Amino acid sequence: MAAKQAINILKMRKMKREAVPITMITAYDYPSARLAEEAGVDMLLVGDSLGNVVLGYDTTIPVTMDDMVYHTRAVARGATSTFIVTDLPFMTYHGSKDETLREVRRLMQEGHAHAVKMEGGAEIADTVAAIVNAGVPVLGHIGLTPQSVNQIGGYRVQGKDEKDARRLMEDAKALEKAGAFAIVLELVTEEVAELITRELSIPTIGIGAGRHCDGQVLVFHDVLKYTSDYREKRFVKTYADIGSLIKSGISAYVQEVKTGAFPAQENVFTAEEAVIEALYGAKKEKEGDPS
Ligand code: KIV
Repeated sequence: MAAKQAINILKMRKMKREAVPITMITAYDYPSARLAEEAGVDMLLVGDSLGNVVLGYDTTIPVTMDDMVYHTRAVARGATSTFIVTDLPFMTYHGSKDETLREVRRLMQEGHAHAVKMEGGAEIADTVAAIVNAGVPVLGHIGLTPQSVNQIGGYRVQGKDEKDARRLMEDAKALEKAGAFAIVLELVTEEVAELITRELSIPTIGIGAGRHCDGQVLVFHDVLKYTSDYREKRFVKTYADIGSLIKSGISAYVQEVKTGAFPAQENVFTAEEAVIEALYGAKKEKEGDPS
C-alpha cells in the first residue's frame, strides 16, 4: 500500500471550501501516534493536555517546553506521514519576540513538529504574525483556553452572551489576519462557532463547539476512556473503553503469576540436554514430563 500523504495547510483550506471535515486527535507518545495515523486521522495534536492525562497534573500550567519536545519527538517517530501540531506551553510565548522564536525553534527542530498551537486572541496576534513570518504554521486556539484557567475562573463554556460572542469573533478575525492556518474553538456555543466558521476563510477545529466547525479535535484519553477515573463530558463521545480492558488484562496477569499459571511451558526456553546434564550433573526431570 502506498504511504499516506500528510495533509498540509493548503489542503486544509481546500477541505474547508469543499466541506470535507478535518479530523484531529491528541497523541503524546509513539504507540498513540502510530495507532492514530493507521486509523486515518488527518492531524495530530501534541496538546499540553498531556499535563492532565499523561503526567497527572490538575492543569496544563506545569507543563514545560522540555515535556513538549520530548513527547513531540516520540509522536513524530510514530506518525511519519501525518501533520503534527504541538502546543507552545504556558508562558513560552509572552516574552520578547526572540525568546518566543527560540521556543518555537525547539518544537520544530528538536521535536519535529510541523506547526505550533497558541492559546489567545487579538492580544497575541503580533506574536502569531512573527512566528508565521518566520515560516512556521500557527494553529490558533480561542474560547476556553486552559492555560488561562485561573484568569477565566474555571472550565466554562464561552460565547454565552453577545459581548463574549463578539469578542470571540474579533479574536478569530485577528488570528486569521495574523496568518494562523486554522483556529481551535474550545467550549464555545454552537451558534457562535457556526458564525465564526462561516466568517473565516481558514478552517475552525471544534472541541465542544458544536456541529458546524470545519473539523473536530478530541483528547485521545477521552475518546478511548484511557484512565481509571473517567469523568463523563457532554462534548465527548467515547468510542472504546481501553481503561477497563487494560485493568482486566493486568489483573488477569497478576492472578496467573500468583497461581503459577504463567509462565507456562509454551513461554519458556529450554537448554540442550548436554548443557542441562553438565549443569545439573544428572538428567533433569523436565517439568510437565513425568518420564
Ligand atoms: O491540549 C490540548 O489537548 C488541546 C485540545 C483540547 C484542543 O488544546
